[in-house]
Amino acid sequence: MGNTDAPHSAAAAMSDEAIHARADELLSQLTVAEKAGQLSQYFYFGFMREMPADQVNDIAAAGHPDKVEAALARGEAGSLLFVTDPAETNRLQRLTLEGNRLGIPALFGFDVIHGFRTILPVPIAMAASWDPETIERGQAVAAREARAVGIHWAFAPMVDIARDARWGRIIEGAGEDPYLGAAVAAAQVRGFQGSRLGTPERIIAGPKHFAGYGAALGGRDYDEVNLSDSELWNVYLPPFQAAVEAGAGNIMSAYMDLNGIPASANHWLFVEVLRDLWGFDGFVVSDANAVRNLLTHGFAQDLTDAAARAVNIGLDMEMAVADPAYTRLPDAVESGATTEQVLDASVRRVLEAKLRMGLFEDPYVDEDQAREVLGDPAHRAVARRAAQRSAVLLRNEGGLLPLDTSALRSIAVIGPLADSPRDTLGPWVFDFDLDETVTILRGVRDRAGEGTDVRHAPGVRVPQRVFASMFDMFDGNTAADADDFDDEAEYQRAIELVAAADVALVVVGEAQNMIGEAASRSSLELPGRQLELLKAAVGTGTPVVALVMNGRPLDLRWAAENVPAILDVWYPGTQGGAAVADLLFGDVSPAGKLPFTWPRTGGQIPMIYSHTISHEPEKQAQRYWDEQSTPLFPFGHGLGYSQFEYSALGVDRDTVTAGEAVEVTVTVTNTGAREADDVAQLYLHQRHGSASRPVRELKGFQRFTLAAGESRVLQFELGGTHLRYWNAGSRDWVNDASTFDVWVGGDSRAALTTTFRVVES
Ligand code: NOJ
Repeated sequence: MGNTDAPHSAAAAMSDEAIHARADELLSQLTVAEKAGQLSQYFYFGFMREMPADQVNDIAAAGHPDKVEAALARGEAGSLLFVTDPAETNRLQRLTLEGNRLGIPALFGFDVIHGFRTILPVPIAMAASWDPETIERGQAVAAREARAVGIHWAFAPMVDIARDARWGRIIEGAGEDPYLGAAVAAAQVRGFQGSRLGTPERIIAGPKHFAGYGAALGGRDYDEVNLSDSELWNVYLPPFQAAVEAGAGNIMSAYMDLNGIPASANHWLFVEVLRDLWGFDGFVVSDANAVRNLLTHGFAQDLTDAAARAVNIGLDMEMAVADPAYTRLPDAVESGATTEQVLDASVRRVLEAKLRMGLFEDPYVDEDQAREVLGDPAHRAVARRAAQRSAVLLRNEGGLLPLDTSALRSIAVIGPLADSPRDTLGPWVFDFDLDETVTILRGVRDRAGEGTDVRHAPGVRVPQRVFASMFDMFDGNTAADADDFDDEAEYQRAIELVAAADVALVVVGEAQNMIGEAASRSSLELPGRQLELLKAAVGTGTPVVALVMNGRPLDLRWAAENVPAILDVWYPGTQGGAAVADLLFGDVSPAGKLPFTWPRTGGQIPMIYSHTISHEPEKQAQRYWDEQSTPLFPFGHGLGYSQFEYSALGVDRDTVTAGEAVEVTVTVTNTGAREADDVAQLYLHQRHGSASRPVRELKGFQRFTLAAGESRVLQFELGGTHLRYWNAGSRDWVNDASTFDVWVGGDSRAALTTTFRVVES
């Protein structure tokens, strides 16, 4: 993947001083309208040209490609999004440079969420690998492909903590935990950007959505968020801080109200926390139309007011579907609602990003080279390994997995998602290649070889969404679209295949358009007749493996008691089916771990492992009269094909003073018969202090590989940041003197424990 740390161009090698000086020089020559233009980012939907006029709504019409190109030609558009063809990025960049009297190039952004052409497993799956190296490498591949076609900036990673599985965007993040979330966020920033902005073959990372978006009321996308001070500081902000510390060049604002104030015009968030406290010096972009939305919120009185109030909190660039509010910034300066100095600060940050990315010297891409990069087989290898490492083995009764090939003559592969390339990729991808996508059926066929008869029937269809997805206009071809489907005949055919097979793989889950943005759900049930199909398959007596394709926990209560093996494969991407076959046939042992608590049913949401306790804790499992109030699978859960023993847990000192670090050691032994990975997880609990603290919180993890019989000593350091927390009473970080319990093991129920004490310094 080339020498990734060499400077991209002369400009990228410029010192900070030289970059500031060049930005100042440009700034001094720009008119106020041109400055507003630098701060405006337009969606560019080339396909609109071919759309019948009656299908183009008013907003979209205002953002028609012709209008965007006119703004480029006037030198009044600083950035575009949604252009993915290298010939088009080149053409539009040429137009930009011809229209701009100072030769300021456009910055091209895109939703590079989990791959560009090579599609990686969805982000929640990548988090389930608990492997920052795999995550970093994956986003480096995504960056390389995107950069090759002329994209300079990813609207990713999404680092929103999500504790409500009804919210469709849980799939885009790292789950419920701030510690894991922070590690995953930093790894993604490193993957996208390399060691610094302007690293060749890398792009700007834009962590989003600042902040609190994952806590939408009722799990309904875009709805208001009300978070306590303690939740904000202890849970929702840490992944953003980690992303900023990793050097992210951009931050995206969030859509909703945070504690009653729109996040996209929230002074506290953007000025006091992001800039003043964390020292973020990159540029901020709004979410799409979020500045215009300040009217919808009942916050701004008109578009000029909206523009002024957004730019005044340092929201540097407006992402607009059409007619940016920021074109009113000259009026806002005129009326005194904002000042030219405010605009200058924002424009400077945008110009500096363009300078650091080397765009002034190197604005175009080589289209032949782009084709080569997109086809690089090394990228597919990274995707396959990522899918292997992210799958979570939820259950494996009687060691059904790995499949014993010597005894297998026939395999039935059942379910509507089993051979659906589009669903295998998951949501939030646009530039995929369906022909090269390896579905589970294809992967199993390739791996099983000639001696094994692999038969497939979908059995049932996935029903359509009740309300259509806005993404269907890009890629609506999910398994849900199957028409001329004879429901009863297909169902029977599937069950007959299962009955006649030595083993059945039943693939269940949600179609890819049922999860992601604007894909919230009121229940967690398997859509349509999938559960019925699963029950009938088990009823045949043939051993059944359930393969779950999902981005959120689903109601698997029946399966967890009746299906011997359950492997969560998520939406595993371009090489998904190949990786699933590697796992099923035991070429690789699964070692992914859940990045969220898996509830039994939607009515338990939200449910987290790091809760506090109060009255009658012995009844913690019986808070509902109709269902256990425990998870179906705990946070951090995931099995493999070997067994691990954790022993000799120790701390280097029994007592430390507040602010000092403790070193924790544990011995891990592979007691099984084959090489395998596991993820050692360290949990901490503070017994008493100036606030109630969670029963346990993740404060360290390490994924490791051990040969059969091998042992290793792992070390963890628990320093000041691990032992402190934000105290809502004193409104500050505190390090209480207390006794701390430590557990280390393979999931959040780890039993091996020790303690140490922190005393006042
Ligand atoms: C809206 C989404 O909230 C955001 O995450 C995304 O990056 C933009 N649309 C652009 O597609």
